Amino acid sequence: MALAKIIGKTPRPQPKPFVGFVADDVSREIVQKAAERHGISQPDVNSGSISTAVQRLAGAPTPNRLLVDLSGCPDPMADLSALADVCDNGIRVLTIGDVNDVNLYRTLIAAGIDDYIVKPVTVEAILGALQQQDAPTVEAEVDDGLAHVVAITGTRGGVGATTIASNCAWIAANEYNIRTALVDLDLYFGTCGLALDLETGRGLREALENPERMDGLFVERAMVRDGDNLFMLGTEDDLDNSHEFDPIAMQRLIDQLRGEFKRIIIDLPRFAARTQLSLLTPPVSVVLVTEPSLSGMRDTKRLAKAVKNTAPGADLNIVLNRVGAMKGAELSQKDFEQGTELKVDFSVPFDAKAAALSAGSGKPFAKGSSRSKTVKQLQLVTEKVARIETGSAKGSSWRRMLRMSR
Ligand SMILES: Nc1ncnc2c1ncn2[C@@H]1O[C@H](COP(=O)(O)OP(=O)(O)OP(=O)(O)O)[C@@H](O)[C@H]1O
Ligand SMILES: [Mg+2]
Repeated sequence: MALAKIIGKTPRPQPKPFVGFVADDVSREIVQKAAERHGISQPDVNSGSISTAVQRLAGAPTPNRLLVDLSGCPDPMADLSALADVCDNGIRVLTIGDVNDVNLYRTLIAAGIDDYIVKPVTVEAILGALQQQDAPTVEAEVDDGLAHVVAITGTRGGVGATTIASNCAWIAANEYNIRTALVDLDLYFGTCGLALDLETGRGLREALENPERMDGLFVERAMVRDGDNLFMLGTEDDLDNSHEFDPIAMQRLIDQLRGEFKRIIIDLPRFAARTQLSLLTPPVSVVLVTEPSLSGMRDTKRLAKAVKNTAPGADLNIVLNRVGAMKGAELSQKDFEQGTELKVDFSVPFDAKAAALSAGSGKPFAKGSSRSKTVKQLQLVTEKVARIETGSAKGSSWRRMLRMSR
């Protein structure tokens, strides 16, 4: 249960459905009319350029849709990049402008902008672009192969394994429209449910106790759902129960999940990693989450060795997390890499504000603090470890696409 719900905090203002910044009055009225004809309630269409949009949206809730006018912009991509920095993920962006240039059009579309309409604009052209935005999007990746499994393990307690697992799952499901299962194998103290504000129930325990009954329907019923694409499987077990994992039941569970989902992200506690990793057949990524400390260095080295022995086919990734939490007392990335003889794949900064917001709202960092540098790293982690093809994403985040091209 999110803290905000418990203490009855006032909800944040709702985002506006449509905001426009248009340089000339004729186009502004046309945009207003088209938005109304599309059924958008109270479209907010202002006079102004893209720079006005950047100023007004900094610190304001990001609208669901945005239309900006690029007329007179000497460097539209730089202006869009500044706009991306003040907007949350998930926003859909239309552009209009006075330059009729196919190269500009292609660059804008490649950067994730939904459309570019050359002036003089018409109601029909803007309406068509709005309707096109509402057309169903395809999945980020068309891949009929075996679902990719990602096992995420902390090398020590509290280093952020659950944070990374829940954010990866949320990002894959919500930013790439990939049907994703998040499995919390910490049967007693798992916190994936808390991270996503979901009631865990006893789903995983029931699934593991009944391997013979396990089919697609059984597994799906045991899961809790968050939106269209994210499903979580976990349990909150009594401490008296024994926690032996039956390898056959685990194997069946993974097989069933592979039939139902495109990505399976497992929050795998250290105590289970040694035995469970051998069950994970490729394609599989193992992510060791650690902190830049001496003990983190020692345990990363030991666990990496164990992973290479037990799951030789796995793609091993090292994530340094909470970097900067203990400034002055931390190992540098270079020293960490020398000490472990391993390359650090990602370094995720400590973000106290995002953590506080996440704990208070029950929203993962990627949802509640999408502008944070930490979240940008988490997005890159997700793309790599969950093997997401970013180039083919249709309807994917404009902010993310721009970030990739920067
Ligand atoms: N990059 C980060 N910046 C700020 N806080 C973070 C970051 N990563 C994780 N945290 C915070 O650190 C705390 C521990 O994180 P988390 O529960 O994910 O760790 P864990 O490794 O799963 O712990 P456990 O060993 O209990 O399973 C949480 O309060 C989380 O919000
Ligand atoms: Mg955890």
